[in-house]
Amino acid sequence: MSRRKVKAAVIGVGLIGEQHAEAYHEYPRSELAYVMDLDPERAKAVGERFGCRYTTDIEEVAASEAEVVSVATPDFAHFEPTMRMIEAGKHVVVEKPLATSVREAQQMVEAARQRGVKITVNLGLRWSPGFLTVRDSILSGEIGEPIMAHVRLADTIWVPREMLSWAGKSGPHWFLFAHTMDLLRWFLGEEAQEVYAVGTKRVLAAKGIDAYDAIQALVRFERTFATFETAWILPEAWPDIVESEMTIYGSRGRLHFDAKRQGFELSSDEFGKHMFTRPALWKRFKLPPTWWGALRSMVDCVLDGGEPAIPAEDGVAVTAMIEAVERSIEEGRPVSPRSLLEGSAGS
Ligand SMILES: NC(=O)c1ccc[n+]([C@@H]2O[C@H](COP(=O)([O-])OP(=O)(O)OC[C@H]3O[C@@H](n4cnc5c(N)ncnc54)[C@H](O)[C@@H]3O)[C@@H](O)[C@H]2O)c1
Repeated sequence: MSRRKVKAAVIGVGLIGEQHAEAYHEYPRSELAYVMDLDPERAKAVGERFGCRYTTDIEEVAASEAEVVSVATPDFAHFEPTMRMIEAGKHVVVEKPLATSVREAQQMVEAARQRGVKITVNLGLRWSPGFLTVRDSILSGEIGEPIMAHVRLADTIWVPREMLSWAGKSGPHWFLFAHTMDLLRWFLGEEAQEVYAVGTKRVLAAKGIDAYDAIQALVRFERTFATFETAWILPEAWPDIVESEMTIYGSRGRLHFDAKRQGFELSSDEFGKHMFTRPALWKRFKLPPTWWGALRSMVDCVLDGGEPAIPAEDGVAVTAMIEAVERSIEEGRPVSPRSLLEGSAGS
């Protein structure tokens, strides 16, 4: 096992990028070399916090000794920094969703393949003990053959109104289906065949945010079918920032996972340490160490060889599912994710 440390950089050090920086700083096999943000104050604040170099110029990162670079810019802005880092020969960890179009996602993965660098997508829930238990139950046959699923992940309205300055350029589907569609596809080991979705833009639109309030998507997999629900209009009175649950019916049983409230809770005026916490504390919220499995896996495979734990192709498949949701809402018809992957949608 190699004893050297991988030098890492983070592009986009907002709410989540700062935690990527912390994860590389804390992981014994990596060291944080550089942070970059278009906002000079953010770059400086995070650079000074971890004692690493900081810049607003992506070319400095491209020319740096960093081998692994995280891209944690807003959902719609993953493509350009990722392509520049691949071109510069860096291995890249992209925040979810991999991209906000199939075309961009495919180009990113193809560019990495041609350049001979590794690319993965950060999906922290793949290391969540609760969801790992769900997956183990399915794979070990405890509910028999999966037949039907219902998955809901929603945020309080505080998220699009206060937390994300760029909510109107994304939506609960890109922000949250990126997790739930990935999890269920991974649990089932099946590809989505067809997506039919409905959604509405009323509440947020009235507040000047061009994003869906709520979406319901019926997805037909190869053998299983599932309803995915998401929303960005949960009232702030809801006790957590998210509402999260998953039910799977199988040929021999039913499995239900309720992540609305996690076991451990520590609340003070200074700090929140539970899975989800009230908005006033969210900016000081620290995601659990398990959230950074994709970053650690990338560092490990740069040092030891092998491939990242989450293949970027999974990110492409989920991007196709979410783009199919958007198209289905707009066109009022079922859309095949495969047709998007093959570039034949609407033909
Ligand atoms: N907020 C969350 O709870 C959360 C959780 C998991 C994942 N994510 C994902 O992480 C990503 C970032 O989300 P966030 O909440 O940290 O957003 P944020 O707005 O807090 O941070 C984004 C940062 O990127 C910077 N930026 C924008 N464009 C840039 C560019 N081209 N180059 C360099 N810097 C740029 C901004 O100045 C900002 O500091 C998103 O894709 C999001 O879906 C967010």
